Amino acid sequence: MIPVILSGGSGSRLWPLSRKQYPKQFLNLLGEHTLLQQTVMRLPEKQFGKPFLVCNQLHRFIVREQMQHIKRSTHSVLLEPFGRNTAPAVALSAMLILEEQDDDLMLVLPADHVIRDVPAFHAALERGRVAAEQGKLVLFGIVPTAPETGYGYVKSHNVNGMEAVPVERFVEKPDRATAINFLASGDYFWNSGIFMFKASRYLQELKKFQPYIYDNCQLSLERKFRDLDFWRIDPDSFAFCPDDSIDYAIMEKTDDAVVVPLQAGWSDVGSWSALWEEQDKDENFNLVKGEAELIDTGHSYVHTTHRLVSLIGMQDTVVIETKDAVLVANINKVQDVKQLVKQLEKED
Ligand code: GDD
Ligand code: MG
Repeated sequence: MIPVILSGGSGSRLWPLSRKQYPKQFLNLLGEHTLLQQTVMRLPEKQFGKPFLVCNQLHRFIVREQMQHIKRSTHSVLLEPFGRNTAPAVALSAMLILEEQDDDLMLVLPADHVIRDVPAFHAALERGRVAAEQGKLVLFGIVPTAPETGYGYVKSHNVNGMEAVPVERFVEKPDRATAINFLASGDYFWNSGIFMFKASRYLQELKKFQPYIYDNCQLSLERKFRDLDFWRIDPDSFAFCPDDSIDYAIMEKTDDAVVVPLQAGWSDVGSWSALWEEQDKDENFNLVKGEAELIDTGHSYVHTTHRLVSLIGMQDTVVIETKDAVLVANINKVQDVKQLVKQLEKED
């Protein structure tokens, strides 16, 4: 089984700490190690072999340094000249793996999640392996606890079991009303964004449902070249590759998807509120990182890096202070940071 770690996202909802040049997967937001390092450390080399990393070329030295720091080597690091989302990133990995390896079972992992119970995670992977070896496209499902609109939902007939069950329906990022119905029905999992399948099987489905992604990834790999210990692909062919996520491009369309339940303290630390939830707070439910003084303030998250920040009489407030930008937001509105970043980019 080859772990394929997707670390090409921009993590824009964690602005201003997460930046294009240094996105969240490379930050130590929770504990001593960065999210990428934690992802790799969850998969001991003896058991899982060397991971395969796919990231943006901008971040190649960050990746290398972070791997050296935890004394782990990689199978390969594939550099994308620009992001085309996860379906092409997985396609490039699958094609390279088939070129270089006999074992073609891929474990696709986002680089920016928290998993608290590692033995439970490994046990779920073993359950997934059985189905993946039979040619299924396995996704790992989380029992939902809130009507989140930032996740994919997966309908299945047995949300309480542990074994692989066929996916009846896959809905990527529903609106809030739909998410509330899904949660109430008790028939849905969240898609964890962690997948397992044979590289050859993924490519079959890709060729069937997304021939342009397939062809352009193949072309860009035909002209790949080595740069130090990285793989670079041909940017001109990759430029023609459609931008799509594995969820929309493949998982929503294939008839062969199964879901394996994952009960391992999974959390997507995608937003400031998710990070707030994930960590220990004081008696007023405040979470403070760095230098801050709070009076009559509750349920708030303050993170400072350069200056002392003071809050008086605030509730549900997020303040993220960095050298060149400060975010002040209502904790219930932090999903909109993504929109804010788009707006800032337009004005740039
Ligand atoms: N190499 C590479 N190239 N990696 C990428 C790219 C890309 O162009 N785009 C995103 N990634 C990486 C991100 O760094 C992250 O680790 C992972 O792929 C998933 O991308 P996100 O952008 O974070 O996806 P999402 O959170 O909106 O949605 C996915 O994850 C949810 C769970 O966290 C979907 O799979 C949802 O269905 C799922 O619920
Ligand atoms: Mg995500």
